[in-house]
Amino acid sequence: MKPADLRWVFGYGSLIWKQDFPFIESRDGFIQGWSRRFWQGSHDHRGTPVSPGRVLTLIKTPGQRCAGRAFLVEPDVFGHLDHREKNGYERIAVDIHFKDGIEEGVVYRAEPNNHAFLGDAALDEIAEHIVVSEGPSGLNAEYLVELAKALRDMGESDGHVFSLEARVLALLKTGP
Ligand code: BEZ
Repeated sequence: MKPADLRWVFGYGSLIWKQDFPFIESRDGFIQGWSRRFWQGSHDHRGTPVSPGRVLTLIKTPGQRCAGRAFLVEPDVFGHLDHREKNGYERIAVDIHFKDGIEEGVVYRAEPNNHAFLGDAALDEIAEHIVVSEGPSGLNAEYLVELAKALRDMGESDGHVFSLEARVLALLKTGP
């Protein structure tokens, strides 16, 4: 049981490997019925308004699970996180599955109708887009490679992320 004023926030992307916010506890877990996809444009972190990068959102996928890491935070942390994720993301309620039970929490999701949504494309196209993108938070490729590393460190696999990582690393070796 957690104290009543604390909240779980589930990270499936940069929150997994970049914690610039205070938290009381973190735990690996997953959410059911969702997949992560590099389908959201980034105007403010891994790209610019003129050349948006490609970052993650969650897509409803019945039967699939999305692994990540949940953080137990004080409510005032959401002021910072809402600002960090302001480009099209909304907080939605989710059940977070831990190895010893399920807790209610929230996750940041960019809905398909938001102004920055880019949507699906061929993996080669997404990889080429990521390799050439950069924004105030750094290289788009770093976002992908750090996520893939964090998932591997957690013992998790994600076909979409790992396939893109392989393509991006190959492009970085040979040039886009
Ligand atoms: C996350 O790491 O959970 C996250 C992904 C995309 C936007 C905001 C947060």
